[in-house]
Amino acid sequence: MNDSSKSGSKMWSGRFREPLDQQFEQWQRSFPFDWRLLPQEIAASSAHARMIAAAGILTSTELETTLRGLAAIAKRPDAWATRISVDNSQPGGAAQAAQLNRQVGTALVASAPHAEDIHHYVELELTKEIGDLALKLHTGRSRNEQIATDMRLFVRDSIDATLLGLREWYTALLKQAEDAGDAVMPSYTHLQRAEPVLVAHWLLAYTTMIARDHDRLADARERMNFCPLGSGAVAGATLTLNRKIASDALGFYAPTNNSMDATSDRDFALEFTQCLTTLGIHISRFAEELTLYSTAEFGFLDLPEAFATGSSAMPQKKNPDLTELARGKSGRLLGASNTLAMLIKGLPLAYNKDLQEGQEPVFDAADTIAGLLAVLPPFTRALRFNHARMKQAAESGYLNAMAAATYLVHKGIPFRKAHEKVGNAVRFALEKGVELNALSLADLKQFGEEFGDDFHAAISLQSTLDCHDVFGGTATARVKEALAAARERINSLAPWDSEASHG
Ligand code: ARG
Repeated sequence: MNDSSKSGSKMWSGRFREPLDQQFEQWQRSFPFDWRLLPQEIAASSAHARMIAAAGILTSTELETTLRGLAAIAKRPDAWATRISVDNSQPGGAAQAAQLNRQVGTALVASAPHAEDIHHYVELELTKEIGDLALKLHTGRSRNEQIATDMRLFVRDSIDATLLGLREWYTALLKQAEDAGDAVMPSYTHLQRAEPVLVAHWLLAYTTMIARDHDRLADARERMNFCPLGSGAVAGATLTLNRKIASDALGFYAPTNNSMDATSDRDFALEFTQCLTTLGIHISRFAEELTLYSTAEFGFLDLPEAFATGSSAMPQKKNPDLTELARGKSGRLLGASNTLAMLIKGLPLAYNKDLQEGQEPVFDAADTIAGLLAVLPPFTRALRFNHARMKQAAESGYLNAMAAATYLVHKGIPFRKAHEKVGNAVRFALEKGVELNALSLADLKQFGEEFGDDFHAAISLQSTLDCHDVFGGTATARVKEALAAARERINSLAPWDSEASHG
């Protein structure tokens, strides 16, 4: 056995005389969390092997042996997973997958007490698999470019999973909007009743946000899909490598164009978490609205029991845990992007070990969004609104006052004056304890000669909706068009042809 195949050997011990401080040695390791980059590390190492084989460093037999060895290592967590997955046959979704993942990770980390990070782990294991040939694999590369590549691959996968999840949630919201038909509800500004809107119009506000989130992530994916391999430690590989080989093998568009940037750039991780931050804010607003609307005070919906919990103390309670947790978890997404921004902002070029701290927020954000998008679509599909209650709320509180002012505008009155006259009528109605519709023509005439026989029809619920007959407005016909457009939009949501869109 030679030196470097000794289980405890570092990837860099040659220059050192003193052993590492034990506490420090444990503390600086990333393997306890970067083990989850195993699939990415194997893919990137295989791509590198192809590249150095083309440069004559590995013979074709050596390349084959190396690729076979790497593939064998990649299969191990699967083997563990089948052993651990005794109860994974039950339907359990994301939570169970995460649990399984944690167990596999624990087993993987425990199996390699000497591994410093995922790169070291693979080198140690490959040496066990194929002997000293494994030590050729590090020719012409550095862990700096490896981790940059692994993280890009991880983020790219996570973006793809998020895009799929977004499409599912979008579809669930759209279906609710389509099913809402002509149901109405109040819209709010300052959380005060403002004007009636179609329930479909309200739900389409969220599909609109989600479509933007989708595009932001898809756009970030386009920008980050370039391959750092061949960048070396900082100045570029010390071999003349055809970087296109690795880039193609990993499905990147092209090699990155500056080695100093490529080894230290984490914009892709920052952008990913920033996109998730915005998405998290949208999720949180939706969650907040549903939490409010499910209260007895609003009564707009009865929370689906499958997604609510009871109270151990108060027998009558049904708590909106899903929406509360969703609101809370969005904070983690925001935290991740803040952590990354703080981490990167003071770093001189190029790689600095600080960057190792950027991995966990990315993993946490990816897990958080995966969990959210596993529960939000079925929760959304299970929602049942109390249309009668929503309508009742839309019909009280003078939500037709804007429509009343618009009526006067059509009679030739300047809006400022119309506003004043309707304001007076509202005050009068408030004193009588009635809605505008209940005022007689005689009552109304004291505030303006222009009030006529057609006034009451002009401020009915239907007319109040339909007077917003503008693109993007809540008039019934406009919402019908918006629903059709939103349905059509699904075709441009993932999975999309990324090759073509790069084209
Ligand atoms: N575990 C390291 C990280 O995540 C890998 C790169 C280490 N490079 C180095 N020069 N020490 O950043």
